[in-house]
Amino acid sequence: MVYAAIMTQRLTLLRPDDWHLHLRDGALLQAVLPESARHFARALIMPNLVPPVVTAAQAAAYRDRILATLPTGAAFLPMMTLYLTETTDPADVAAAHAGGVVTAVKLYPAGATTNSQSGVTDFGRVRPVLEKMAEIGLPLCVHGEVTDPAVDIFDREAVFIDRVLDPIRRATPGLRVVMEHITTAEGVAYVRSGGRDLGATITTHHLFLNRNHILAGGIRPHYYCLPVAKRESHRQALREAATSGEARFFLGTDSAPHPDHLKEQACGCAGCFTATNTMPLLAHVFEECGALNRLEAFTSRNGAAFYGKAPNDGTLTLVRGDAVTWPAKIETAAGPVTVFDPGCAVHWRVEP
Ligand code: NCD
Ligand code: ZN
Ligand code: ZN
Repeated sequence: MVYAAIMTQRLTLLRPDDWHLHLRDGALLQAVLPESARHFARALIMPNLVPPVVTAAQAAAYRDRILATLPTGAAFLPMMTLYLTETTDPADVAAAHAGGVVTAVKLYPAGATTNSQSGVTDFGRVRPVLEKMAEIGLPLCVHGEVTDPAVDIFDREAVFIDRVLDPIRRATPGLRVVMEHITTAEGVAYVRSGGRDLGATITTHHLFLNRNHILAGGIRPHYYCLPVAKRESHRQALREAATSGEARFFLGTDSAPHPDHLKEQACGCAGCFTATNTMPLLAHVFEECGALNRLEAFTSRNGAAFYGKAPNDGTLTLVRGDAVTWPAKIETAAGPVTVFDPGCAVHWRVEP
């Protein structure tokens, strides 16, 4: 890695991976895939399509649709996940893993987020699958929020850790778990309390947003995602964790495109679309935190190590200069999708 402590102008990293990405399907897939493939070598692809990706055959077919959609010459490896339901068969999961089709299984509490209706309500019912996964070393990626309407939305991650995640981990020794898109100091502390079997992804947008950004001075639907951004002290905890260099924390952008008309309505969808500008935005954050020398660990080393993969061969170079711009929206056949705008000047660009 090339950097200098005072005013770095150029930063060359191993090519990054995105360990939590929504590519959707059809028209949206076609429009958003090049945005990720431009900078990322690999991504863990979320299975919350309609209908969800629940079988190995569906995961393989989805992977093939992604590969068929790649721009010519693009080198991008989609790593697939299975959507865990209460009727998932442990033997099917083991076969998908043995066949090299899937890299992880995704747990959505039913009703917690976009397209999570087929997720889990009774966690006891997925115990045999989780035990099989612990046995074969297949990681579980978790959307960590309770859905109990009596629990305040800003508390749902912390309550999930106590009520669901910690009991699951205690009951299933050896299960490798990734807490996806952590948003709280409690999430950071819990991940630090675990061993090498516990990791967490942190998104780009949660390093920029606190809840004031969503709600103060007008409601900003393009800052609304799940888990919802919390108060400023939590954002600071996420920045400290992401820039710490610790192996348990790695990038999962959770780039989650929704056509604008579905976000800008009375009941708007959750999700921020960050595939286009994630790397410049992360360089901005790591520079602010005086941690540019640890950006490569977060984007290109820690996640691969957690998943037992070698880092990528290629590199990506970021250059500091005049304030940069990016398209406000990308056009898709399903309508325009707004690109995440942090609302501050960003001075990093990816060298073409
Ligand atoms: C994601 C989506 O739109 O698929 N939305 C989000 O706000 N993060 C789902 C998810 O990752 O929870
Ligand atoms: Zn989620
Ligand atoms: Zn997501």
